[in-house]
Amino acid sequence: MTYTKSLQGKHLITTQDWEKEELDIILKLAKEMKENRFHHPLNKSLENKSFFMFFYNPSVRTRQSFEIAATELGGHALFLEPKSMRLKTATTAGETIEDAAIVMSRYACGLGIRILEDKIPHYGAGEDLLREYAQYSTIPIVSMAHDKYHPCQGLADIMGIQGHLGELKGKKTLLTWGHGALARSWCSVQEYLLMASRYGMSINLAYPEGYDLDPQVIEQTKKNCDQNSQEFNITNDVKEGYEDVDVVYSRNWMSPQAYKDNKLHNEQEIEKALQFNEWICDTEKMRLTNDALYIHPMPIDRGNEVTDEVASGARSIIYDVAENRLHVQKAVMALTMGEY
Ligand code: CP
Repeated sequence: MTYTKSLQGKHLITTQDWEKEELDIILKLAKEMKENRFHHPLNKSLENKSFFMFFYNPSVRTRQSFEIAATELGGHALFLEPKSMRLKTATTAGETIEDAAIVMSRYACGLGIRILEDKIPHYGAGEDLLREYAQYSTIPIVSMAHDKYHPCQGLADIMGIQGHLGELKGKKTLLTWGHGALARSWCSVQEYLLMASRYGMSINLAYPEGYDLDPQVIEQTKKNCDQNSQEFNITNDVKEGYEDVDVVYSRNWMSPQAYKDNKLHNEQEIEKALQFNEWICDTEKMRLTNDALYIHPMPIDRGNEVTDEVASGARSIIYDVAENRLHVQKAVMALTMGEY
């Protein structure tokens, strides 16, 4: 099988590191793999190969979909946790990332890593860790969600929206903060901003004062929107962003003050966030939209980020997006790690 661009050996830490044409190749293959799940010609591309899944934090979708992706491509996935690795940390002696990355590259065809929230001392530490693995490994490093980005989620989001709306150029989306009892990392929402803007959507970003995202990601989103001649608006109004949009994404995220003294102050973040109880995606606000689709990367904090009526309503595509994680990851693994 030939592709216009070789993706062999590429790391996937954020979709923004990849050319748009490369993302198109992944999305096209993921759609083929969804339609022809058990008989696709690339279904043996990981035969006899193993993929490491290194989780610092828990997961439902990511662990299951990566493990099943490896199986469906004829390969095998191994679950690793920090306690099984004896790695050097800021406070303990152990093996360096350089040595671990070189050795793991001799065994497997790829390494996925999840590190965020309470497993890092400050925002950016997870990104630094993934980039350090990428520096020394000779196999692809894939983010399975870290503090800054969640590339496979971003791919699955866009695949889900395309599946319902077709061409996205000129379509409008709202990404809105939702109050909640979980202090969420910025990874999924930041990846969504980058992907939606790369795919030509105009963007409304809404959040209460004090919940700014990473300025570098905001700047890049502006650039992506400019390149596609689309608007990027930021508002602190809870309703304004809903007007006339085609897709609504509501999600809690932590404030920039969440990390202090080298740790995440989870309880304080939750206590603060729960005060903004008007910040919930509900039917009344959805009525302001252009009969918008509702998306969320899951797990959902129902009753806080969104009402049950919207999350389980006719315009919700949350389960399609969750399913797409499997197909986009199969496409990424086949083309970056497989033989074809
Ligand atoms: N969306 C997502 O990454 O889900 P999990 O945290 O369950 O893997």
